[in-house]
Amino acid sequence: MTSRGRFITFEGTEGVGKSTQLANAAGTLKALGVDYIVTREPGGTPMAESIRELLLAPRDEPVNDMTELLLMFAARAQHLHTRILPELEEGRWVLCDRFTDATFAYQGGGRGMPAESIAQLENLVQGCFRPDHVILLDAPVETGMTRARHRGELDRFEQEAVAFFERIRQTYLRRAEADPARYHIVDAAQTMEVVSRDVTELVRGLVDRA
Ligand code: TMP
Repeated sequence: MTSRGRFITFEGTEGVGKSTQLANAAGTLKALGVDYIVTREPGGTPMAESIRELLLAPRDEPVNDMTELLLMFAARAQHLHTRILPELEEGRWVLCDRFTDATFAYQGGGRGMPAESIAQLENLVQGCFRPDHVILLDAPVETGMTRARHRGELDRFEQEAVAFFERIRQTYLRRAEADPARYHIVDAAQTMEVVSRDVTELVRGLVDRA
């Protein structure tokens, strides 16, 4: 029987180098002969990607916080049940660019939605399913925002003020500090070479322990 794959998520505020480190982690798994897929939230299936477009498009109409929260979980339900869980059952590891920690950080810390409401939706959509490991790339908000601004057109979230991202960063850090066995904080303000080395070592360690 194939053993279940591991579900590893990557989190952080804008511009902390998540995409680069996801690619680095994928390369590490490949070198170790681990079967894996890379995916992202919101998104990861055609329907969930359509919900992502709805969520990220800058618009004149004000977006209600509850609408945003429910759309995040609508996309997640589709992604989790039609893609993530089947892949894990097949024994593949799933590397996911953001998951529910982003909802606690952005809709909770950032927008001010109550953590209890988010936890209720988490239980409703996921049951007791949680990431096996969360890799939190942490850097001062300004560092990341400067990088994000250089990438071009800003999406609806990237247009928010520094204070919004500061609350997000603090929410991530609080969650990580409360569960150090599952959360791995990487100092993303270091040079890219050093961050990559840290992430490679971390992923190797996760494979050794699996
Ligand atoms: P990305 O830029 O990392 O691909 O993520 C898209 C945006 O969606 C990013 O600004 C964070 C935001 N987001 C939330 O607000 N809540 C969530 O639950 C997720 C998964 C993403």
